[in-house]
Amino acid sequence: MEQPRPVVVIDFGGQYTQLIARRVREMNVYSVIVPCHVRFDDLVRMSPQAIIFSGGPASVYAPASPTSDERVLRLGVPLLGICYGLQWMAAKLGGKVERADRREYGFAQLEVSPPTELLADLPSPLRVWNSHGDHVTEVPPGFRVTGRTENAVSAIENSAARMYAVEFHPEVRHTDRGCDILRRFVLDIAKAKPNWFPQSFIEETVERVREQVGDARALCALSGGVDSAVAATLVGRAIGDRLTCVFVNNGLLRKNEFEQVTRSLQDRVKLRVCAVDRSDRCLARLRGVVDPEQKRKIIGEEFIRVFEDEARAVGDVEFLVQGTLYPDVIESVSVRGPAATIKSHHNVGGLPANLKFRLIEPLRELFKDEVRAVGRELGLDGAILNRQPFPGPGLAVRIVGEVTEERLRMVREADAVVLEEVRAAGLYDRLWQSFAVLLPVSSVGVMGDSRTYASTIAVRAVESDDGMTADWAKLPAGVLERISTGIVNKVEGVNRVVFDITSKPPGTIEWE
Ligand code: XMP
Repeated sequence: MEQPRPVVVIDFGGQYTQLIARRVREMNVYSVIVPCHVRFDDLVRMSPQAIIFSGGPASVYAPASPTSDERVLRLGVPLLGICYGLQWMAAKLGGKVERADRREYGFAQLEVSPPTELLADLPSPLRVWNSHGDHVTEVPPGFRVTGRTENAVSAIENSAARMYAVEFHPEVRHTDRGCDILRRFVLDIAKAKPNWFPQSFIEETVERVREQVGDARALCALSGGVDSAVAATLVGRAIGDRLTCVFVNNGLLRKNEFEQVTRSLQDRVKLRVCAVDRSDRCLARLRGVVDPEQKRKIIGEEFIRVFEDEARAVGDVEFLVQGTLYPDVIESVSVRGPAATIKSHHNVGGLPANLKFRLIEPLRELFKDEVRAVGRELGLDGAILNRQPFPGPGLAVRIVGEVTEERLRMVREADAVVLEEVRAAGLYDRLWQSFAVLLPVSSVGVMGDSRTYASTIAVRAVESDDGMTADWAKLPAGVLERISTGIVNKVEGVNRVVFDITSKPPGTIEWE
């Protein structure tokens, strides 16, 4: 099966670039992001159905502002510029862009001026979301103004040349009917084919992996999460039991997690899973360690050791399966500079380079919601598909201070109460994460007629799109009350429960 022709998003470093590609894919149209300095030949080779120029923080007239090969403007496929994309198109096509007297950030009212192909059938005024400091003062030849806000030209088009541009952001939810505007461009104007379905992705990927691996063997580390489970299932479909999955119990998993995940993957999707119990060894090495980075390092080392042992036991392993996702591989125009390392993340992506495997990354082209859709199609268990993220170092980073059997028991039991109540309230899928953290703080309490001096649990619940930023979740008081009572009643050794009301930034989601 052939790869579908993409709608290419050319990235000028905008904060919403990924969102544009996602919106296009939500229409079942394949979309990819390329940096603006992509080579023209490479772009032509992709055979785009249409091109969208993203926004970006720069000013088109600033020295060294991001630019793209101008031949793309004459490629003959439909073009849509968004924000900086509009300014770049206008400047290159003979119009004029200047610094605005008044910058426009936030909501604005768009007055639509028909005739317009792109903005046809929309109410006027339309509430749109703006974020720009420059505006078009002279429209390029062949274009007409099709929309204005109070301060600026906000939409232009040259329908004969199939070029369209808007100053506002149709890809963000704050713009009313924004998705309709993108649909109009992608489906009606560009007539892009909606042939990007989980089923076609599965067939094509299975075929590709089969070719890539040939008769060789592959190994996959499972984390219990959705990405590694879907990656493994796809590869399993391709090469059957020449794939061995390794799922390590490091003693830091949640209640019943090891058994449930193993059983589900073996029974439902028929994967060959080596469930390796290293909890004693891992916990022994963690004894006395309180430094968070040290904990992460030890857990990472143990994981790699297990992995090496399994590879040796299977013998002849040539390939390693990883659940890398599209957001991790997009070569985006970075305007923020290299991200500072805040915590060292240990996950399956963190295997050292000297493990001499070739990589299979079947999810490299997918966003998280697409991975879930593929997983659903593959028949994976809902409990795995919709699972909230769980960090590689597990409960160790949710125990502030030393990890002991006793402290693990407390955090594990408390975590089970949090999840039970969150699920019962129907909130599980709405929250990015919800969990318990054990603090190294004891306090005085009273239970029955006696005084207690026992541990404290912090409850953390956050909403987020990608884990990069997060808001603390405003859980209903009734849910908080049931969590608090449940923990104190069920978890021996805990007499106090507090709720974490820190967002990220300034906090991180995990406590360590
Ligand atoms: P922080 O705590 O940095 O976490 O705000 C952001 C997201 O990443 C998860 N996380 C990890 N995931 N290995 C992982 O696979 C790790 O070491 C790790 N540390 C944090 C965290 O749960 C949150 O979703």
